[in-house]
Amino acid sequence: SSRVMLGPLVAAIDQGTSSTRFLVFNAKTAELLSHHQVEINQSFPKEGWVEEDPKEILQSVYECMERTCEKLTQLNVDISNIKAIGVTNQRETTLVWDKETGEALYNAIVWLDLRTQSTVENNPNSLNTYFSAVKLRWLMDNVDEVAEAVLTHRAMFGTVDSWLIWCLTGGKSGGVHCTDVTNASRTMLFNIHTLDWDPELCKYFDIPMEILPKVRSSSEIYGLMKSGCLSGIPISGCLGDQSAALVGQMCFQEGQAKNTYGTGCFLLRNTGAKPVMSEHGLLTTVAYKLGRDKPACYALEGSVAIAGAVVRWLKDNLGIIQTSTELEKLAASVGTSYGCYFVPAFSGLYAPYWEPSARGIICGLTQFTNKSHLAFAALEAVCFQTREILDAMNQDSGIPLTQLQVDGGMTSNRLLMQLQADILCIPVVKPSMPETTALGAAMAAGAAEGVSVWSLRPEDLSEVTSEKFEPQINPEESEFRYARWKKAVQRAMNWET
Ligand code: G3P
Repeated sequence: SSRVMLGPLVAAIDQGTSSTRFLVFNAKTAELLSHHQVEINQSFPKEGWVEEDPKEILQSVYECMERTCEKLTQLNVDISNIKAIGVTNQRETTLVWDKETGEALYNAIVWLDLRTQSTVENNPNSLNTYFSAVKLRWLMDNVDEVAEAVLTHRAMFGTVDSWLIWCLTGGKSGGVHCTDVTNASRTMLFNIHTLDWDPELCKYFDIPMEILPKVRSSSEIYGLMKSGCLSGIPISGCLGDQSAALVGQMCFQEGQAKNTYGTGCFLLRNTGAKPVMSEHGLLTTVAYKLGRDKPACYALEGSVAIAGAVVRWLKDNLGIIQTSTELEKLAASVGTSYGCYFVPAFSGLYAPYWEPSARGIICGLTQFTNKSHLAFAALEAVCFQTREILDAMNQDSGIPLTQLQVDGGMTSNRLLMQLQADILCIPVVKPSMPETTALGAAMAAGAAEGVSVWSLRPEDLSEVTSEKFEPQINPEESEFRYARWKKAVQRAMNWET
């Protein structure tokens, strides 16, 4: 059998909250050649706690890599064409490990985790459970091994990108301890203006700066793979997953935006070279810095904690569906929630409310309500939450988005896409290649100095084919339902009082 002739290839590790993926792209055409995906277990040791096993995360990366390489070999593609690897990841999730043993000292505390709720509620400054600093503080205060390792200068802190890059580049024997500006900007220890760790914030949280990874740009060679089928290949891209999706959607111009439906849902709008502060509950974040000497670009972000996670909850906790495709069928069978509203505030509410004490509610039930209506209400909840952050985004920028670029796992649900267009009253545009997050990380890796197989010049970027969903219901009906949703949200916020 003959070898398939291709130009350079670039790979991406996409380590999300619910699963890990490894994907290989053609750097000339941005075509996805092969990939493999593995689900990640989450544990909920106490109410509100969410943890993942750092070893399992690392193993899942190696497994996806090996399987993808096998698949490529079966396709007669020479894996030595892979020139670089990008890393993209669930953000904020917090790990501490011992640099001498190479072992993690506790499970990864997932971004959704609420164990620091009382800490943030008792704090006079507006903190939130979401960011890494409070999680790291909790680890230092509550896990003896962590406290001990910090005292003896053996502790390393990192978000998932840092953990993976350190392990993949050699771990305890010479691993590179680094992160990129986008991941760093999610810790609450980073100064997004100076683009370095902030001594004041570190002092405030009493975090010794020596445990922090070195902050690098999102596109440069950090180190080389030390083992596995891709040993010797440079890791040269690193972006938090929402930033990577922005890059993968080619939102390089100020004003461009994308919404990604993963475990949560995150709408980012490029604000160019200047960080813009929100007056409507959005976050200001570093969008990307594509090269050591390139300027940083910023974004406004609307973060929604629960999107795809509500599907997993209906499956694992209620057992009313076995797969996500079933959810779409169930919801489509009724085409309405019949007045039922479902606010999945499982981890409090994020943007624009930032209320960690909010809890989920289902309201408007009658004798008539059945699981199909509940399924519909769950999908609608994802759309309403997106509407809330889109409204905030439009108010902040003064220039309303005329359509919404979307991506992520849930966008394969056509009913959801149509509902989203109906509830936003603007078209929803979905690229035909849904792995935008991984594509962004691959682009960053392929464009890095010393790799240079992927050009990010606008004229070199390939055309993206997409599908458009136009609003189909009248705006009055849409507004009526949205107003009801807002009432339900108020109940979720004040459920105790
Ligand atoms: O901030 C958390 C976010 O990065 C998680 O993304 O895709 O796992 O929902 P995802």
